[in-house]
Amino acid sequence: MELLLTDPLDMHLHLREGEMLRTVAPLSAKDFAAGVIMPNLQQPVDSLVRLLAYRDEVGKALSQYLFTPLMTLFFKNYSEKELLEARPHILGIKLYPAGITTQSESGVRDIRGAYKTFELLEELRIPLLVHGESNGFVMDREREFISVYQQVARDFPQLHLIMEHITTADAVRFLDSSDKVSATVTLHHLLITLDDVAGNMLEPDLFCKPIAKTPHDRETLRQAVFSGHPRLMFGSDSAPHPRHKKECCGCAAGIFSAPVALPLLAQMFEEQGCLDKLQGFVSDIAKQRYGLPEFGKTVRLSKENWKVPELYDTVRPFYAGQTLQWTATI
Ligand code: NCD
Ligand code: ZN
Repeated sequence: MELLLTDPLDMHLHLREGEMLRTVAPLSAKDFAAGVIMPNLQQPVDSLVRLLAYRDEVGKALSQYLFTPLMTLFFKNYSEKELLEARPHILGIKLYPAGITTQSESGVRDIRGAYKTFELLEELRIPLLVHGESNGFVMDREREFISVYQQVARDFPQLHLIMEHITTADAVRFLDSSDKVSATVTLHHLLITLDDVAGNMLEPDLFCKPIAKTPHDRETLRQAVFSGHPRLMFGSDSAPHPRHKKECCGCAAGIFSAPVALPLLAQMFEEQGCLDKLQGFVSDIAKQRYGLPEFGKTVRLSKENWKVPELYDTVRPFYAGQTLQWTATI
């Protein structure tokens, strides 16, 4: 059995920098035509100069591949001039609430204080990608943030607002109710619940932000994806950390899923009898929502077993050591 995908897109991806970038970026670039590159580097990507330098570094690591890095700027209050200059080079601006996840200390503390920039983004038609979590109880963070999404969507009706990596039934309900808003969902939130993270032995490789939620949340996300929700797109949130940062006191948040993303999605969609919905989920919906061009890449998924390596250099991937049924090639 074989399936050809046109321009698979990963709409939320952490590629890091330096040695880590060189290890992980090829694993995404092999299977995807483009990816939305997150700006939460040690020093956030919060100026055009830094963004262009980072894009160069990514380009160098991927010179062998047909892969377009769709760059994002770390949210801060930018001037109109800065946004106008950046606009041709970016897909959007990524907002992190301060301190909510890996390298987000310089994020936003007060949403009202960001309104001037939201106005500019709306006017200049620059998408706003949001890590939507409050600083409340960990299982309630996404649900509590929905009122912020609601407020921003109401106050800036023309702004393209993207709820990143949604994990709850509440987020799906809000997405259903608001046709200006889009969302991404990861592979892991379609597969695991909090039980997999902490129900038995603690699994550092499954610890991520937002934390995996309940079986009901997972089921609601799955139904939305498998029914071809018109505003829900794939974003892996593949977020590699070296082993010593995962297996220690103070485990870093992030799941490294890039090498298994397409094969596991194919397996899941096949099990659900909806392989015909995969093209939409991993490409067409994102192209439509963001107005992206054709990238001209075809990826072949074939039903062929392979064993996921235990490690890629220092990073342990999602499903390490397990046998997957689908293989992606070009
Ligand atoms: C991401 C990271 O490590 O950069 N971690 C994660 O758990 N998803 C940051 C993020 O997207 O929250
Ligand atoms: Zn992320």
